[in-house]
Amino acid sequence: MIERTFVMIKPDGVKRGLAGEIVSRFESRGIKICAMKMMRIQKELAERHYAEHKGKSFFDPLLGYITSGPVICMVLEGDNVISIARTMMGRTNPQDADPGTIRGDLAMQTGRNIIHGSDSSESAKREIELFFNDYEILKYDKPDEPWIYE
Ligand code: RTP
Ligand code: MG
Repeated sequence: MIERTFVMIKPDGVKRGLAGEIVSRFESRGIKICAMKMMRIQKELAERHYAEHKGKSFFDPLLGYITSGPVICMVLEGDNVISIARTMMGRTNPQDADPGTIRGDLAMQTGRNIIHGSDSSESAKREIELFFNDYEILKYDKPDEPWIYE
């Protein structure tokens, strides 16, 4: 099923110059980029985005981390893309992440795991609405699609 997910390159990914490599992995896989923007997340938005973690020991450091510099937010579209993007990211703790995954290849610690991706269709819908207006999400044809989907 064609679906959409929200993916964000976190401040460490941007500051380490890994944005191009990360975007390239999604492009090469055949995933369509429907929206993309660079922004600095304010504390209030960070609290809403990570509301499920409020009260946990890592919540305050997480807010500090995610608001510490620019992030690159994306809406990605493709067949089963919510699950596929999570698989491509690898486990939350990069030390448990398989080689070949973004975190498994490019990161060392949970608190510096360089990328976020929605974990369910409900999260994807909520997060896309939190970060993007409708007019920022573009519809267009990719001419290689017949070679990605049969
Ligand atoms: P994300 O939401 O960022 O895509 O990551 P995730 O689903 O793989 O992991 P989640 O459990 O939602 O945790 C959100 C982010 O909080 C930081 N974290 N730190 N120190 C810790 O125990 C801890 N646990 C989580 C990580 O940055 C994680 O990505
Ligand atoms: Mg999460």
